[in-house]
Amino acid sequence: MNPIYEKLKTCYDDVRRKTDFVPEIALVLGSGLGSFADNIEVEGVIDYRDIEGFPISTAPGHVGQFIYGTIEGKKIICMKGRVHYYEGYPISDVVLPVRLMHLMGANILFLTNASGGINSDFSPGDFMMLTDHISSFVPNPLVGENIPELGVRFPDMTHVYDLELCDRIRESAAESGINLKEGTYIQTTGPSYESPAEIRMFKTLGADAVGMSTVVEAIAAHHAGMRVCGVSCITNYAAGIDGKKLGEQEVIDAGKASAPLFKKLVTNAIKRF
Ligand code: HPA
Repeated sequence: MNPIYEKLKTCYDDVRRKTDFVPEIALVLGSGLGSFADNIEVEGVIDYRDIEGFPISTAPGHVGQFIYGTIEGKKIICMKGRVHYYEGYPISDVVLPVRLMHLMGANILFLTNASGGINSDFSPGDFMMLTDHISSFVPNPLVGENIPELGVRFPDMTHVYDLELCDRIRESAAESGINLKEGTYIQTTGPSYESPAEIRMFKTLGADAVGMSTVVEAIAAHHAGMRVCGVSCITNYAAGIDGKKLGEQEVIDAGKASAPLFKKLVTNAIKRF
């Protein structure tokens, strides 16, 4: 068997020894947004470190737990803490959790993250719904022998972000009184923040926000046939825009400050899914 698929199966079998929970929706919580999990009627928690073979997340602001239960009557599994490429894991490990939640039964993937705003209409505290992405600066998670159990060799990426789910998020923003921004998210490897020259380049390429996650997860999920959507919390102006230095604490604090509105946006969207 393909070693990447074998590892996924090992994790899945181990999860199935712990729970028979079948989620409808998978939600990945970005930096500072982990408190969303407090909204869930929790059925169970699994620490990443207790899953055989699972890559452990070490990023600041990331706990490292699957939390599953119900929200708005929907069965949901949440990742409190994701796996980042900059932590040194192979890209296949970075997308393993998303594939695992899909194997458990989730058909919808809701991705969230913190990002730097590139678009001059964006300010810290804004939310940007992802309508497209640029993956060209990170390894593609599908490189290597294709895993036909998951998806096809050459998956289309025209509509990664599900049009209906995007509509539901727009409705949720209107109901929650949020001026939702929309745009293209670009993923970098990190862990260094971008230079001002890189941000100018990304702007020229059509990116509206930049961060160190999400796109590879969206590609793997779309490959596997999941319906994907995503919202980014703009925590800061991207490098060089306001001349201020960037730091992880600022990103986490800004994410936390946005958490109440973010909870509203996500909860109202999930209700409509
Ligand atoms: N760059 C990259 N990742 C980020 C940023 C940023 O400006 N803000 C939050 N995550």
